[in-house]
Amino acid sequence: MGKNDLVNGKTKLIGLVGNPVEHSISPQLHNTLSMEFSKNLIYVPFRVEEGFLRDAVNGLRAINVLGFNVTIPYKTEIIGLLDEVSEEALLMGAVNTVKNIDGKLIGYNTDADGFLNSFIEETGEGFKDKNVLIIGAGGTARALAVKIAMEGASNIGIINRTIEKAQNIADIVNENVKNVVNTYNFKNLELTNLINKTDIIINTTSVGMYPNIESTPIQVDFRKDQIVYDVIYNPYETKLLSEAKKSGCKTVNGLGMLIYQGIKAYEVWSGVDIRNDLAAKVKNICIEEFK
Ligand code: ATR
Repeated sequence: MGKNDLVNGKTKLIGLVGNPVEHSISPQLHNTLSMEFSKNLIYVPFRVEEGFLRDAVNGLRAINVLGFNVTIPYKTEIIGLLDEVSEEALLMGAVNTVKNIDGKLIGYNTDADGFLNSFIEETGEGFKDKNVLIIGAGGTARALAVKIAMEGASNIGIINRTIEKAQNIADIVNENVKNVVNTYNFKNLELTNLINKTDIIINTTSVGMYPNIESTPIQVDFRKDQIVYDVIYNPYETKLLSEAKKSGCKTVNGLGMLIYQGIKAYEVWSGVDIRNDLAAKVKNICIEEFK
């Protein structure tokens, strides 16, 4: 495409709906993918103020966008405004990707797929028959717990400050996917025992995120055969990850998850199948831009 042909009469629009959206790397990610695939698509962030989600969604439908991403704080509220939602996204209670098919808006969740892809790629391991501990019980924890149970984990512990929220996720997974989830709070005296028998530890809380980089959600002795995953990517290595690394553990931050959820969303909208090597290339471009 020439310099003055970036947008033309046939260009299709993809958007990001959330608040705030200014920090998002999704525009760079998706516009890079469109350049790689020579697709006539453009991705634009839309900051939607509280109370305007319905208007925004109807407007996006009216102008016939190809689709859009949904981010904080609208991932749950959006569900009631769509024409159809995938079974998995309903269980996760969150939609982050919407596709417009002839005026019908269909919701999906690609966050957990992004997590799974990045986890497998960076650790070479999956979740089958694994003992997993999830720290936190918010929206991210719920999506990951559903996915990890679907992947065949033998045990999932959810540890949270507010035990009722952990129990709510446990009930959803145990009743609808597989009866594998137990809940704990941080005061539980069995915490050391619990960590000891765990293969994979995942932090989904914001504890340790910039600017509180000296905080860590759990202070324990890790075993070197454990994998520690933190959904945080700012800082690039949280205190949790640096301590785990010192103990010899494999550690992974959340940047891969962020990028792969976007790659998966792009596949949903454009119908292209992004090969692993190309996904890795795009991921590296984004990591360089992010650092
Ligand atoms: P997300 O959608 O990113 O998962 P969220 O739904 O706001 O975000 O969930 C944040 C999680 O981090 C919650 O489990 C929260 O614990 P509570 O359920 O008890 O509120 C947890 N969290 C946040 N700050 C925390 C802190 N300082 N200590 C412990 N847990 C914390």
